[in-house]
Parts: sequence; structure tokens; C-alpha cells
Amino acid sequence: MGVLDIYSASSNCFFRTSSSHTPLTPGSAILGNKNRVVSMASVQPVDHQVNDGQQQVTGDSFIRPHFRKLSPYQPILPFEVFEALGSLKFPYIYPDPESRRLRAALAEDSGLEAKYILVGCGADELIDLIMRCVLDPGDKIVDCPPTFTMYEFDAAVNAAGVIKVPRKSDFSLDLELIKDAVEKEKPKCIFLTSPNNPDGSIINDDDLLKILKLPVLVILDEAYVEFSTIESRMQWVKKHENLIVLRTFSKRAGLAGLRVGYGAFPLSIIEYLWRAKQPYNVSVAAEVSACAALKNPTYLENVKDALLKERERLYNLLKDVPFLNPFPSHSNFILCKVTSGMDAKKLKEDLAKMGVMIRHYNSKELKGFVRVSVGKPEHTDILMDCLRRFY
Ligand SMILES: Cc1ncc(COP(=O)(O)O)c(C=O)c1O
Repeated sequence: MGVLDIYSASSNCFFRTSSSHTPLTPGSAILGNKNRVVSMASVQPVDHQVNDGQQQVTGDSFIRPHFRKLSPYQPILPFEVFEALGSLKFPYIYPDPESRRLRAALAEDSGLEAKYILVGCGADELIDLIMRCVLDPGDKIVDCPPTFTMYEFDAAVNAAGVIKVPRKSDFSLDLELIKDAVEKEKPKCIFLTSPNNPDGSIINDDDLLKILKLPVLVILDEAYVEFSTIESRMQWVKKHENLIVLRTFSKRAGLAGLRVGYGAFPLSIIEYLWRAKQPYNVSVAAEVSACAALKNPTYLENVKDALLKERERLYNLLKDVPFLNPFPSHSNFILCKVTSGMDAKKLKEDLAKMGVMIRHYNSKELKGFVRVSVGKPEHTDILMDCLRRFY
């Protein structure tokens, strides 16, 4: 896999492939497969240039030699995605309304046939689409806060009521209360998130099977499943007529800006979603990028492995901070209770002044909590240096 490294020197942009440095001038292009860089304009040599018999000094000759050897910044996107976007053949033609290429690639990736899969403009679109197909005004959904807030938002847009069944203090689901709520309130659907946003807890098979036995449509949101050690339940939709599983490229492939999500649906449900979805909900660029990302499973696995390793290190370091109580996470973030009289909002603001951004929550269930994203080792180091200034 080619990782694209980008840095600039003068007005040129240098793209480093795994084997060599190739300067890319503004008129150059990246074409074809395997990191081929084709220059369409003159290429400037990096070192001294000879002009009219005179030696000219270039700026980078002033840079300390060991600096010139340092690895440059690496963008999140795999090279293949840039390459695919740069060589779009028909960006001006409407996309395939059935996203067949991407659904075929997803079938291969998930082991679930394409006929069970529908693609959307992010998982967000699919959440709304499901509600539009299922809920009449006045119908109810079950929501288990603290969790992703779009379920509540879309329910309101679709004029549905929200029955809140809060999670327990360790953020696990309260199965008894869910059962009671389904029996008493007769909701049409329940939204479950595994791993959950914001705490990263997962739902085990037993609990999920218990909920699937209830007379309610279960929407299992697996936006972060790639960061966990559990398998996706996409295949389960073949056995459970009341299960929908949602996933996204926003997290697993870092493609949030391109807006591609997907869902696995029982056949008895998916045909109605096809009728209701906007015809061109997934753009040409989004489909091409997602296909390119799937072509490189090794890259995605490597990113995941690096993240899991760093998550463990970050978790252990946060445990030693006297005013933080981190929760074990199966996702790419760690939720922490702020303790010892320290104010969570002030902590977030103080860290921001030092250039470190963390998330602070204001909701009833998350008063006094902050959430830290797992980054690279150097990000963890900077965060820890900043936190140490408080004790
Ligand atoms: C649990 C969960 N589901 C879905 C989404 C939205 O995903 P997408 O970017 O594919 O719309 C998010 C985004 O943060 C999320 O946290």
C-alpha cells in the first residue's frame, strides 16, 4: 500500500511514495495505479540548480540535514482514495442510484450479499430514512441515553415520541427497563449503539438476543465497530426480521466529509427503503472513495491496530490522573468522569488554551464528564504533559 506523504518546499508540493521522493509541481498529476506520479510540468531539482552557468542556492539547503530526512506529515486518507478522487471519470453525470459497485464491494467486505445492503449519505441519512419509513406521527422510539443524539433529533423531525431508558452507571443497557418500556409504551423501534457513543461500551450477544425477542424493530448502530474486538452483526439480519445494522465510512476509513454510510436490512424491510430513498443520495465522489478505501483492507487494519495500541496506553495513563476516572472503551475515544472537585467545563477550557481539544458534555446524564479522542502517541504525550500541570 502506498502512503502519501505531503509536505511543501517553496511553491512545490512533494509527494513521497514508499520508495522515493518525487516533487509534484502545480501542473503535475497523479495518474493510474500504484502511486505513479506523472509530471506534466518541469520538475525542480531539490538541491542546487545551475542557471546560466551559475550555481543557485535553494531554500532547503539551509535546513539541517537530519531534518531533511525526517518523515513528513501523513494524512489520514490512504493514497488510493486521493488517487481515485483525482481520476474520477464522470463526476458530472448522476451517480448510480443503486450504488452497485460499492454494494458489491461491501458484500465482499462483510460476507453479506449485496441485496441486503443499502448505502446512504452517511449513517445519519439512513437513521432518518428508517424513521420516515417506519414512524407515523405520534409513534414512539426507545432511546438509551447517554448515546448518539441524532436518534432523538430525527424522532422529533418525524413527529415521534421518545421513550428514554437511561443506561446504568457503567453505561450498560438496563434490560429490565427496556422490556417494561416496550410492553407499556409499545414503541415501533429501539436504537442501540455498539460501541456506544460517548462511552465506548458494547452490547454482548446475550443481551442483544434478549432485546431481539421483544416486539420492536431493533436498529443497531455499529458506527464504531471496527475499533472493537467484536464482529459486526450485519449477518444477523438474515435470521432476525426485526434487526437493522448500520455502519459508516466516517470512522473506519476517515471519510466523514465524503458522507458514506451503509446498512444491512432484512429483505422484507429493505424493499421499502429503496422506494423512499432519494435517488442520488450517494455522490460519485463518495462511492468512488469508499470503494477505494475497501480495496486496501491492510491499510485499514494497520490504522486499527495502531489505534487499539494507543487506546490502551492512553487509558492506562488517564487512570493515573488523580482527577479523572476513565471508562474502558471499545471505540476511538475514552470517556472520563472528572472527579476530586475539578470542574469538567473549566478543564476543557484550560486544555483548549494550551492547544489541546477535548469534548465536554452538558447533558443531564453526562454532567461532569469529558471525552478524549485516541490520537497518535505524540498526541497522547502532549495531552498528558498538559494534564500534569494540574497536579
Ligand atoms: C453512533 C453514531 N452513529 C452514526 C454517526 C453518524 O455517522 P455518519 O457520519 O456516517 O453519518 C455517528 C457520528 O458521530 C455516531 O457517533
